[in-house]
Amino acid sequence: MAPGPTRVGRTDVVRLFAIGVLPAFAQGFVIRRPLALRLTAALDTHAWGCRVLDDLRERYGPGPVLATAFGRTGLVLLSAEDARRVLAETGVSFTSANREKMAALSHFEPDALLISPGAVKVERRRFNEAAIDGCAADPGFREACRAVVEEEIRPLLVGDTLTWKRFHAAYQRIVRRIIFGDAARDDERITDLRDKLRSDGNWLMLHRKRHRLRAELFARTQGYLDLPEPGGLARGVRATPAAAEIEPVAQMQHWFFAFDAAPISDYLTLGLLACRPEQAARARADRAYLRACVLEAQRLWPTTMVILRDTTVETHWQGGWILPAGTAVIFCNPFFHRDVRLLPYADRFEPEVWLDGRADAQWSIAPFSRGPARCPGKEIVLSTSATLLTELLARDWRVTSSNRLGPERPLPRTADHTSLRFAAGNRAVHG
Ligand code: HEM
Repeated sequence: MAPGPTRVGRTDVVRLFAIGVLPAFAQGFVIRRPLALRLTAALDTHAWGCRVLDDLRERYGPGPVLATAFGRTGLVLLSAEDARRVLAETGVSFTSANREKMAALSHFEPDALLISPGAVKVERRRFNEAAIDGCAADPGFREACRAVVEEEIRPLLVGDTLTWKRFHAAYQRIVRRIIFGDAARDDERITDLRDKLRSDGNWLMLHRKRHRLRAELFARTQGYLDLPEPGGLARGVRATPAAAEIEPVAQMQHWFFAFDAAPISDYLTLGLLACRPEQAARARADRAYLRACVLEAQRLWPTTMVILRDTTVETHWQGGWILPAGTAVIFCNPFFHRDVRLLPYADRFEPEVWLDGRADAQWSIAPFSRGPARCPGKEIVLSTSATLLTELLARDWRVTSSNRLGPERPLPRTADHTSLRFAAGNRAVHG
């Protein structure tokens, strides 16, 4: 018999699907469904999914396992070494343009870098990096971002309570201004279009394409690029030469979509710090530590639940077996980020791991991915988050909703940010 990875039987496939995939699908891979999120957080369904993977590793060893469902075969990664290999070899044996991801994202960002195959990916990556890094390196852009964040967040400091709804609405204005410029501040329609199409993306290929909505989303984006003086990242796009196949407007849709993960981790960071006054005091005084807190919230509750790849060619694996081209490869972030076998701090809030090199050394901790397809927006996200949380931490916050974010017990693996509510303490508002 040819050597090969363990192929799990029907019972394990059903467990993987029912306990791992279905609750995540219900939450929404592309945009969270608040009701399902509340329910899955109450049940802590990510903990169930992690247990299934732990159990497979216990029974079959650390090598990856193959599972087939609905005619599609996926290789489920269970070891940090395999995770590293797949991320590092993206663009060689593995493509980020995985079939399911393409089905989900093509509703609103066909031609975006993340789902671009082959040679065009190289050109689009170059364009994305030039436009984003060019802005991030420009002191004028950085200063404008800081001013935008302060202006939008300060009204939140006036009231005595903070809810997800208010926080998210303010963040939407920040994202529109950073991506499209100040002219887009109140363009709620563009956010609405994006989110309607993201809801379609939650259904992958099961939802029909709404071409008219997408055309409107693209036309509005083009409108900001065509302004005499575009602002935000749109200015970087205008300044970056682009051949026809680059499709700059499609690239911007990914930025606009991806930025919507930042409010989730920032709000959870605030929740964690509100339950830890000493760490909040340090975060106020030390920006590097505050950035580490945001990364730590992303480790604990990764907003990207799964990193998917497809093999592009027959791929040799350790042990001498060959994976056929077109196989899905599954990197499950909530599992790797809380791997109790590898990480003594798995279920604790320990921002120090991002400062002393422990988290960076583990490729299996990858909230912004790693390797050739790593996130080029990471720096903008982290600096926006640090500015925003510095502003918010001008007040003391207390969590007033029921929550399990405190240090007394292991942190849950599923978190519902939408139910978190805060009350402000006495610290003086500055400015
Ligand atoms: C909290 C916010 C964000 C998180 C957690 C995040 C995370 C990620 C992850 C995990 C990937 C790899 C996905 C995969 O391989 O399947 C990725 C790719 C990417 N991200 Fe982000 N991202 C964020 C925000 C942003 C922003 C704001 C931008 C742009 C300004 C951006 C631009 C990109 C691009 C262009 C890619 C595709 C890279 C490639 O395929 O080569 N991201 N991001």
